[in-house]
Amino acid sequence: MISFLKFTILLVLVTLVSRSLADEYVLNNKRFPSSFMFGVATSAYQIEGAWNEDGKTMSTWDNLTHVRPELIMDGRNADIACDSYHKYEEDVALMKEVGVNHYRLSLSWSRILPTGFPDQINEPGVNYYKNLFRALKANGIQPLVTIYHLELPLALQELNGVLNESFVDWYSDFAAVCFDLFGDDVKLWTTFNEPKQVCSGGYGYGYFFPYIKSEGLLEYQCTHNLLRAHAKAYRIYDEKFRARQGGKVAIVLDAYSYLPASESAADITAAETRMQFDLGWFANPIFNGDYPEIMKSRIATRSKGEGRAESRLPEFTEAEKIALNGSADFFGLNVYTAGLVAAIDDPPISNPPSKYQDMGVNDYQPSDWETTSLDWLKVTPWSMRHLLNWINDHYHQPDILITENGVCDNTGTLQDVQRVSYIQRYLSNIRDTMELDGINVIGYTVWSIIDNFEWAQGYTQKFGLHHVDFDSPNRTRTPKLSAQYYKNVCHTKCLLDDDSACID
Ligand code: BGC
Repeated sequence: MISFLKFTILLVLVTLVSRSLADEYVLNNKRFPSSFMFGVATSAYQIEGAWNEDGKTMSTWDNLTHVRPELIMDGRNADIACDSYHKYEEDVALMKEVGVNHYRLSLSWSRILPTGFPDQINEPGVNYYKNLFRALKANGIQPLVTIYHLELPLALQELNGVLNESFVDWYSDFAAVCFDLFGDDVKLWTTFNEPKQVCSGGYGYGYFFPYIKSEGLLEYQCTHNLLRAHAKAYRIYDEKFRARQGGKVAIVLDAYSYLPASESAADITAAETRMQFDLGWFANPIFNGDYPEIMKSRIATRSKGEGRAESRLPEFTEAEKIALNGSADFFGLNVYTAGLVAAIDDPPISNPPSKYQDMGVNDYQPSDWETTSLDWLKVTPWSMRHLLNWINDHYHQPDILITENGVCDNTGTLQDVQRVSYIQRYLSNIRDTMELDGINVIGYTVWSIIDNFEWAQGYTQKFGLHHVDFDSPNRTRTPKLSAQYYKNVCHTKCLLDDDSACID
């Protein structure tokens, strides 16, 4: 375990770098190890289209975009999206051209199991993924498959979705079907993408499907179910598939790097609390077997103050703790940005409760941080060192795979210089952390290989290395400057354009 002193020094260093040295930062010129994985990512709903083809049934997002188009920035849907259901070979060719080692994609549950349950397996849907895996293999690209990426069969949502106690079984049955069908081709699995977005976004703050606001209540129950579902699927892989298939299973967690707003002890403690309520909420059960102590104690105390007999934070049974503990073969990390955290006076007990008050800290992004076309997505590459060290120190030095990192614009320009610089600077700080702190980062994944349907933002935000023309029936793909840059990185394993300046 890192000493508190070393950790504090690192925090202070990172904060200082962020404030004064950002412009003077010198890019790392050491090559990445030859085993380092460079990849790209997408998800099923965001690219596939073919929403009702070949036996696929409605998913939550098909339904939402059809019945509530006003919730989507441009009122559009992903009925066709990038049409990757039909154009997957073209996508694989783009990846081959860039030279990636892996492709992170997700499975559409309602394409594989039209009723949501394994009573019926939809062969054409299964064949779509089998053909995709075959094409990837033929091009030397390893699939990294997410079983659940923010989308559920509508039939299951109508049964209360992730909040239903039986969700744990529905999900693990689906996961077992996936392991069984695809496990010979897929050796890297992640169970859920960003459960925090599902639970805090969907059932806490209510900014994401199904737009329910129930801070500090349903969001905790949602998380509890997803974590139990994750553990059950992981243990099914252990018991039934691991020996034969020899793959790895993990989960994808999204995190801000939360740094103390000042060097004061109070702000340093507040930043630690914020990290625990954000990343620790999910990672601690998976890597240490239970929710973080600070969450358990603060929520229990506040629940008592609200007159409740029990804590709003559910408890795991002993068997669940055992199943959860160690249920990830690597640490899947989605990282885009950072925040500063300041201590505040403990908020008074209030009804309804909120997770924000449960945390009892204030976080923000200063107005002078580099901006992008999305409010929350400030460019903070210097924060990588802190985050990666934090994960390393709290979760037993895991292998860390960056499963998403990227940046958007709302113009779709092919001269995407900010994206080039973003990828370059984030990767450089990752390389620094590997070199200076010995952290085991095993790979990096750009979100995304192509522009796609960005959830409530519709097609207004572009994250792709390739532009997609959503007005053309052909959904024409065109490489951006960033595709060229990333291609060079994949080939040279070095971040500089001039290879002679790179050091082995
Ligand atoms: C999600 C993606 C999303 C991306 C950019 C992640 O939160 O996994 O589905 O498109 O970030 O916002």
